[in-house]
Amino acid sequence: MITIPYLTALTTYFSYGLLFAFGQLRDFFRKFIDWWKASNLQGYAPICLGLEDFYIRRLYLRIQDCFGRPIASPPDAWFDVVERVSNDNNKTLQRTTKISRCLNLGSYNYLGFAAADEYCTPRVTETLQRYSASTCSTRMEGGTTALHVELEQVVADFVGKPAAMVTGMGYVTNSAILPVLVKHGGLIISDSLNHNSIVNGARGSGATIRVFQHNTPSHLERVLREQIAEGQPRTHRPWKKIIVVVEGIYSMEGELCKLPEIVSICKKYKAYVYLDEAHSIGAVGKTGRGVCELLGVDTADVDIMMGTFTKSFGSCGGYIAGSKELIQYLKYTCPAHLYATSISPPAAQQIISAIKVILGEDGSSRGAQKLAQIRENSNYFRSELQKMGFEVLGDNDSPVMPIMLYNPAKIPAFSRECLKQNVAVVTVAFPATPLLLARARICISAAHSREDMVKALEVISRVGDLVGIKYFPAEPKKHELVEGREKVE
Ligand SMILES: Cc1ncc(COP(=O)(O)O)c(C=O)c1O
Ligand SMILES: *[C@@H]1O[C@H](CO)[C@@H](O)[C@H](O)[C@H]1NC(C)=O
Repeated sequence: MITIPYLTALTTYFSYGLLFAFGQLRDFFRKFIDWWKASNLQGYAPICLGLEDFYIRRLYLRIQDCFGRPIASPPDAWFDVVERVSNDNNKTLQRTTKISRCLNLGSYNYLGFAAADEYCTPRVTETLQRYSASTCSTRMEGGTTALHVELEQVVADFVGKPAAMVTGMGYVTNSAILPVLVKHGGLIISDSLNHNSIVNGARGSGATIRVFQHNTPSHLERVLREQIAEGQPRTHRPWKKIIVVVEGIYSMEGELCKLPEIVSICKKYKAYVYLDEAHSIGAVGKTGRGVCELLGVDTADVDIMMGTFTKSFGSCGGYIAGSKELIQYLKYTCPAHLYATSISPPAAQQIISAIKVILGEDGSSRGAQKLAQIRENSNYFRSELQKMGFEVLGDNDSPVMPIMLYNPAKIPAFSRECLKQNVAVVTVAFPATPLLLARARICISAAHSREDMVKALEVISRVGDLVGIKYFPAEPKKHELVEGREKVE
């Protein structure tokens, strides 16, 4: 449980209250002024009703310059951020031709494959020329190339499962596969902080959804026992099947999944385990094989292994790996395979090449070096931040490290001050986090050098003093987060 300092909680509530009150006041006067204007809706209901877009208009738009900043180069350790100006108090932003070179602490470029690579890039360009950018077809029709077949085998071997299926988008991998795996009469038990793609996949499945407290095996066990005793709603028949869905590394918390405990509970109650490794595959484990390797879990005990290629591999798309029967079934039934254009061939080549580098099959030791580097960089950066007195979430070895900001005014302050000093950070607030728990989310890369990190730490420390977010000036404390980001009920 995050313990928000009492005064911080109070000022945070007060700030949001103030923003809400003034927003309401301004809305009231706007309505008053607009009242006599003729309505041009011609009988249609307005697209955005009353409070639906209140948060966007009155809170988000005030600080929108901190989000969606356009960049003009690959998301490497350093990148080019396009400068924008506004003539209307940031209501609209115009791009300029000016560019500022910034240290990149925001991209999921864990292994540094997002920038040009001596092994991957020539192969990707060659593939682009040979196969073009798109297959213009679904996998079932003309969209399966030799590369797609190779990719699925390479991925299955890499993650340690007999077979794999690859789709063109990570988000869709979750949102389209969960509805195929489990339907009405089934039960999905989901971690309270699972990614939105899992939430939407679960909701679209028609199965009953129960949520367990974030990363808390004892609560998972309680929910499982209760639900098995209850059975299906109304009829109380046994569940057709039960799937427990967790993530390897939680992207907004930087935490590692308590996988060994969760797997043993699922075994005890005969529930399937679905593991989303979007942020852990390639990033952790001795040979980059994710949380199973890091935490010593046999991949045979994880029934459905999901992941994306958008982080460590510097590409796009997602995969599901599992038994031959499961993957064959998904290929016959999953709409993301049947009705969606297959993954772009150059993107597929990027993944194959990146995995070869990770495994040392390119004939060099660069892969092993990258893996050692990401681990060393992450642990160095995290421990330095903690020493400075920041409240940093997450576990050792995780390249994701959120720094708590809490106050709404500190979100733009932190982001803008860092940018002024050429350090680009990502800030996250409601609805991606609970209202009170706004944070900056640092992602460390193997591409960061020691000098990069020293510079980043200097800037963050200075800005941290300025903005007042060194909440733990003495001994750093360890926290566990249980408050829900989005409850799936
Ligand atoms: C845990 C998790 N699953 C799935 C996705 C979606 O993947 P993609 O961005 O590749 O579509 C993300 C994206 O950030 C994620 O964090
Ligand atoms: C608009 O954004 C800039 C940074 O891009 C910031 O310095 C300025 O304070 C913002 N203005 C308002 C009115 O919020």
